Amino acid sequence: MATASTLETVTTAAGLRLAVDAWRAAGERIVLVPTMGALHEGHLALVRQARARAAKVVVSIFVNPAQFAPTEDFARYPRNLEKDCAKLMEAGGVQAVYAPDTQEIYPPGFATTIQVSGPALGLETDFRPHFFGGVATVVAKLFLQCRPDFAIFGEKDYQQLLVVKRLAKDLELPLEVVGAPTVREADGLALSSRNAYLTPESRKIAAHLNKVLSFVAGRARAGVSVPQAEAEGQAALITAGFDRVDYVALRDAETLAPLTEIGGTAARVLAAARVGGVRLIDNIAA
Ligand code: PAJ
Repeated sequence: MATASTLETVTTAAGLRLAVDAWRAAGERIVLVPTMGALHEGHLALVRQARARAAKVVVSIFVNPAQFAPTEDFARYPRNLEKDCAKLMEAGGVQAVYAPDTQEIYPPGFATTIQVSGPALGLETDFRPHFFGGVATVVAKLFLQCRPDFAIFGEKDYQQLLVVKRLAKDLELPLEVVGAPTVREADGLALSSRNAYLTPESRKIAAHLNKVLSFVAGRARAGVSVPQAEAEGQAALITAGFDRVDYVALRDAETLAPLTEIGGTAARVLAAARVGGVRLIDNIAA
């Protein structure tokens, strides 16, 4: 265990348990912010929300192989623990970074996966069928290793947030899952570790994703049918220069069930599209 002033880096579940047990014995509440590292302002906003919830903040950094398909970017996903720790030090208020290696999470013989449905059905699952099972399994494990009172997740990954809330409820995990608003660049692009893959040209096109979401919400609010608004959104993304649109969908904000019209319940517009080989996702309240 390395200690740098107030920020401890812990790499084992046993080390994490020691720290957590000491805090609990002192009557402190604990909040976990799960991440895959390559930290940016979006992650740091979650850390600020975390600080407002509890005295002891743990940030986990683990690039989870179980949520990547063999064709995806697991090998090239940006990793820089030192830089991430420096950012957290600078942000302040984080007591521990939990940075386990793959063996610590998936020891030899590991054979259990959590299967999710409900909000996990459709959208991301249609294009990344392995994804939410991998997320649910690692998140459950992180929750059990850390035993936090709260865990903070970004609305940036809105379907993931709902899946994790459902997981905690269904398994009666003794913590509260809290959602935090999406942090964006000045032109509306949601911050993401994967934005680093964008070329300057793709980066310009990427800014249209958020604008098209607002356009789709506006069209639906103006009385255009949901399928029509979604189709117009798809077309607008292609016109803007996206190579492929996985989905543009207007859904019930609580359940992600398809909607025939908006107005009755809270709605969300969600989209995933590719530009220059980079897959981007975003969503807004409709
Ligand atoms: P990662 O992509 O590193 O994101 C970690 C957390 O930061 C997630 O809750 C995500 O929604 C949030 N986040 C990312 N970009 C954001 C932004 N621009 N504004 C606000 N929050 C943002 O999501 C994962 O890692 C993994 O799936 C994980 C939950 C850690 C499980 O492996």
